[in-house]
Amino acid sequence: MDNNSIDPAKSIPTFYAGQSIFLTGATGFLGKVFIEKILRTCPDIREIFILMRPKKGLGLNERLEKMLNLPLYDKLREEQPKNFKKLIVVSGDTSQENLGLSAVDRQMLTERVTIIIHNAASVKFNDSLKYAILTNTRSTRDICILAESTKNLIALVYISTAYAHLDNPFLEEKVYPPIADWREMIKVAESLDEHILNVFTAKCLDNFPNTYIFSKNLAESVIQEYSSSLPCAIVRPSIVTSSLKDPIPGWIDNFNGPIGLMYLVGKGLLRVIYANKHSSQNYIPVDTVINTIILVIWKLGLTTFIPESTCFIINCTFPDEKCISFEECCSNEFKIMKKIPFERILWTPGTLYTESVTMYYVLAILWHILPAKIIDLILKFLGYQPMILEVQRKVYVTGRALQHFVCNKWKFDNTNSQDLMSLTPSDNQEMFSIDLSDVDMIKYIRNVVIGIKIYLFHEDMNRLNAAKAHRKK
Ligand SMILES: NC(=O)c1ccc[n+]([C@@H]2O[C@H](COP(=O)([O-])OP(=O)(O)OC[C@H]3O[C@@H](n4cnc5c(N)ncnc54)[C@H](OP(=O)(O)O)[C@@H]3O)[C@@H](O)[C@H]2O)c1
Repeated sequence: MDNNSIDPAKSIPTFYAGQSIFLTGATGFLGKVFIEKILRTCPDIREIFILMRPKKGLGLNERLEKMLNLPLYDKLREEQPKNFKKLIVVSGDTSQENLGLSAVDRQMLTERVTIIIHNAASVKFNDSLKYAILTNTRSTRDICILAESTKNLIALVYISTAYAHLDNPFLEEKVYPPIADWREMIKVAESLDEHILNVFTAKCLDNFPNTYIFSKNLAESVIQEYSSSLPCAIVRPSIVTSSLKDPIPGWIDNFNGPIGLMYLVGKGLLRVIYANKHSSQNYIPVDTVINTIILVIWKLGLTTFIPESTCFIINCTFPDEKCISFEECCSNEFKIMKKIPFERILWTPGTLYTESVTMYYVLAILWHILPAKIIDLILKFLGYQPMILEVQRKVYVTGRALQHFVCNKWKFDNTNSQDLMSLTPSDNQEMFSIDLSDVDMIKYIRNVVIGIKIYLFHEDMNRLNAAKAHRKK
């Protein structure tokens, strides 16, 4: 056995050997990819406790079984099949006080866990303020309380967002003053009726575009406060998109953010969007985010914790100089979607971006609403359920939710990612790469489109010629 494999400072898998992780948000986009990566690449990890709630009529074990059958886990199934057994489901709900944990589970976690990753969040931009604060901010406080009674904790990592402080055009890797007092806001959310709080939402949010960002901003200040007594780090990803390569290129499992836009554009449903074509789009592949989390925990775990120390904060964003504009991004997508179209498109993909409100509304009526009404009438006449107008209502809601992000520009400090890269043991640099300097954007966008086709629409790439013929028609 060489020395590197027994020194945790020189080998990341060695560091993780014997560690016991508590992960929230395990069933989400990031959570699933984290589980896959850590079980496959750090095979001697002791166990991963995953907080889960029942959903859509499925119990916890049924949900887990369904999740582990995803193609995302094929490589893990091939390389480390025994490691699936290291997943231990813990029932909980982050919208409940104390994460809805039972006393028995709580006791078990405090005895065994060494690493906590608080990744769960309600990511809906239109949640009520009450729900967003209880689910995203109060749960972070309750995670910290749990962490305080955890006997052998070496790291607590909070997954925030790069836009938690978006009133700054240049976002540094530092603590920013909170928008409000998190204790007060939790009290308000707990005591006031949802409808009353809705009335105050606009006033509370101030310049913040939605309740999600507001609740994440408050959650950061919770972590910052507890970091004087706990070994904490905050990871701030920008907009997380399909995987670059690990475990498969183009892996995606939700329609959030730009993927939703790509879907709408690709199907020909989004013809006009209110956006600044020069705004730069900071997308970060999910596997880069997961590698960053793994490296941050490794760094934190190797550092002796000094009480009263400050929290380690890292922007997990695409290097500014490599970011492309909204216009460039769309034009690349159109070119790729010409060669690799989605199946059953309604209109040839093509979208106009405008910053004129009047033009946006006029074109939305002409290109979105009117055709939708006509198609729905035809559907009704043929005895089918009308649905296109409802789809267009969703298109409008999606566009509104993303408006702030496609009309503005931010730049991000990436010093900590650079440092982390240089600290990574040479033997592990490929496996846990966070280096995006060589990414070929065209190839990446191509893989994103293919990923949407395969993993979201379950389309067969062998039917590509038929999809192309349909597009031509
Ligand atoms: N994706 C992005 O672009 C992005 C960008 C920046 C930051 N982030 C942050 O990254 C983290 C993960 O995001 P994601 O993209 O993976 O989101 P996601 O796919 O929507 O997953 C969210 C996860 O949180 C869990 N969750 C939500 N409400 C819960 C509740 N009340 N009780 C228990 N679990 C609950 C969900 O569980 P269920 O499956 O039971 O719903 C799911 O596992 C979040 O903290 C988010 O703020 C994401």
